Amino acid sequence: ESETNRCSGWQGKKVLITAGPTREALDPVRYFTNYSSGKMGYALAQAAMEQGADVTLISGPVHLSPPQRVQFVKVNSAADMFDKVKQYYQDMDVIIKSAAVADYTPAIVHNQKLKKQGSSMTIEMERTTDILQFLGEEKTHQYLVGFAAETDNVMDYAKSKLTKKNLDAIVMNDVGNKEIGFASDQNEVVVLTKDGKEQSLPQSSKKDIAKAIIQLIDKELR
Ligand code: CTP
Ligand code: CA
Repeated sequence: ESETNRCSGWQGKKVLITAGPTREALDPVRYFTNYSSGKMGYALAQAAMEQGADVTLISGPVHLSPPQRVQFVKVNSAADMFDKVKQYYQDMDVIIKSAAVADYTPAIVHNQKLKKQGSSMTIEMERTTDILQFLGEEKTHQYLVGFAAETDNVMDYAKSKLTKKNLDAIVMNDVGNKEIGFASDQNEVVVLTKDGKEQSLPQSSKKDIAKAIIQLIDKELR
């Protein structure tokens, strides 16, 4: 695209994006994960890069190739993602946490494949660190954007996450709606900012939604 299409404000801006699911090992052959495809996060990385930003993409395992010209960091578990985020967040200008991070991980990771026993099994899980919460507490100057994937009470839950995690904005995603779910190429979101604005981005490709989110953050930063 032509240089005139770029908002020069993003030239040299440092943007950290997390994307995709995490993978929580149980034993050498099994893990827990979720349906996140990574498409939204990768589209955001691409959109920010096209605006001239210096993008770092921390991604869980997905079937996508990283956009050209972004610094790509691959992770597996929620704990790995937290380590990498801690390594990169301090000198970022904008942080967008679109990753679907596991809330729980197996309390014990077995070194050998578990053998089946009895008619049922119970796996003990422990809480992972909430990376976004950590960033909300630790941020100094960074513009912090979270995602809220909800199936019900969508608006209430998103608003409470915005406040509780000390975010500047939250992208509310109704994942109960099958047409725009995790695997889809389409999305439809509402962006809530901490000053109380609610901006709806109607159903469109994840690429277009990503561009609109980046534009909206750009406006908020001015
Ligand atoms: N998140 C995170 N670290 C976690 C869990 C979530 O950084 N361990 C981030 C996600 O990347 C997302 C935001 O928190 O940006 C909201 O994730 P979501 O799953 O919608 O909410 P939770 O706070 O985990 O609450 P719950 O799953 O109970 O709705
Ligand atoms: Ca969660």
